[in-house]
Amino acid sequence: MRIAVVGSGYVGLVAGACFAEIGHEVIVVDNDLQKLEALKAEQVPIHEKFLPELLGRHRGHKLTFSDDLHHAVRSSEAIFVAVGTPPTEQGEADLSYVESVARGIAGAINGYKIIVEKSTVPVYTNHWVRKVLLRNGANAEMFDVASNPEFLREGTAVTDFLYPDRIVVGADSDRCASRLREIYAPLTEGTYYRQQNAIPGPDRACIPPPLIVTSAKSAELIKHASNAFLAMKISFINAVASICEAVGANVHQVVQGVGTDSRIGSRFLNPGIGYGGSCFPKDLMAFRAVARECGYDFRLLDEVMRINEEQRQRFVRKIQNALWTLRGKRLAVLGLAFKGGTDDIRESPAILIVRDLLQGGCNVVAYDPAATEKAREVLNSKIEFAGGAYEAAAGADALLILTEWEEFAALDLVRLYKALKYPIIIDGRNLYDPETMAAHGFSYYSVGRPAVTPEAHAAGAASPSGNIHQI
Ligand code: UDX
Ligand code: UDX
Repeated sequence: MRIAVVGSGYVGLVAGACFAEIGHEVIVVDNDLQKLEALKAEQVPIHEKFLPELLGRHRGHKLTFSDDLHHAVRSSEAIFVAVGTPPTEQGEADLSYVESVARGIAGAINGYKIIVEKSTVPVYTNHWVRKVLLRNGANAEMFDVASNPEFLREGTAVTDFLYPDRIVVGADSDRCASRLREIYAPLTEGTYYRQQNAIPGPDRACIPPPLIVTSAKSAELIKHASNAFLAMKISFINAVASICEAVGANVHQVVQGVGTDSRIGSRFLNPGIGYGGSCFPKDLMAFRAVARECGYDFRLLDEVMRINEEQRQRFVRKIQNALWTLRGKRLAVLGLAFKGGTDDIRESPAILIVRDLLQGGCNVVAYDPAATEKAREVLNSKIEFAGGAYEAAAGADALLILTEWEEFAALDLVRLYKALKYPIIIDGRNLYDPETMAAHGFSYYSVGRPAVTPEAHAAGAASPSGNIHQI
């Protein structure tokens, strides 16, 4: 099918490349000419596993880039809208980009088309997009508006798209739903997975994925409710981790015991320094605003956000408790992205923690495998950047782990010990086993587990000061 995807951000570019991969003819439209030039010049603007392969396979053939929305709409049967929906100062989603794209589409319609929201949008956006099209002269018989929320995670976006747990199609007419069914048929009928050069799927991939048809409003709510629920799981376990710290329990043992209950599940129960990224913080605020507008005060979401904020502050206090004073300390920071596997630093808890440390008078030398360039833009010259983990650690008073990159979980501990001035590690992502760290001579502080020191380890017990923390 001929498809236009408007917006070439994380969602639009991945969706466009994946639609081409499953056999469609795709035009990706963006109004950022610089971005388009880079895409046409075979650059890959974001760090995303398998995206370079897909762009390499399809660019110039099944996948083209353009700034001409009018032409893209006229030559497509389905138009996916994936422009940004940033938060306003009041926390609502700013839908002005979506509206402007809807106006652009209205003037170009030349046959039956479906307009599909891919961006995360509040309930009723569908209704408004339809209204904007009608107000701008589109004939009601010539289009339908649908919601097809995207559940992809940055870092694994391509496999999340091609091997989804489910595909949600929110369509209020059969004609529209069947066009979306046709688009996803290579996945739902499994033909894509039988292709020899198919992108490999994750171990627990659900093949073929189910396609769930709902009303447009339900689909809009499914996206907000899913993100809010996942953020709630993270805040819940972070709150439990704080109690574990206070009583000297181990949050990983608690997660194992809780998560094996199939009604709960262990995914998204990793404690840490709180969630960040371009979705959870923004979507929780937007969902709360939607609820308020409908007359429901969703205070549970306030609490999820409060715990998340407090989790970061607790971690900064943990650093302070481990180091006594901060001013003048040289701290090595591993990880600046909001999570592993991406170069995205939007709402990154790591960046917020670095800012707090700089304010406290620390000198920070940081390393991130992919996010350095983006971090440089927001942190300016205030921190030093290292080319690797050991270079960052060289001569540092302590090492902080702030992003769960796989390579940070596989460090050579002997080499790390030699590089640091003091063997102190404060791990915001729980990448190591405390006993192993103590056996290698480190004082090791993590989240929701007793702190350990080499002395206490030698004496056969966890550090008494690490066992009891104030909440
Ligand atoms: C997306 C969704 O839009 C957002 O709702 C969801 O919650 C997260 O994922 P993302 O892909 O990360 O956001 O957005 P961004 O990286 O900001 O990309 C949006 C793109 O749309 C940009 O390339 C921008 O240039 C383009 N754009 C924006 C247009 O082409 N036209 C516009 O009118 C506005
Ligand atoms: C999220 C949703 O998972 C995805 O379905 C939606 O489409 C977009 O928003 P993303 O923001 O890319 O995806 O990353 P995700 O893997 O969900 O992580 C979000 C944040 O939560 C990161 O900061 C991550 O480090 C943190 N996190 C995640 C935890 O602290 N603990 C966990 O157990 C999982």
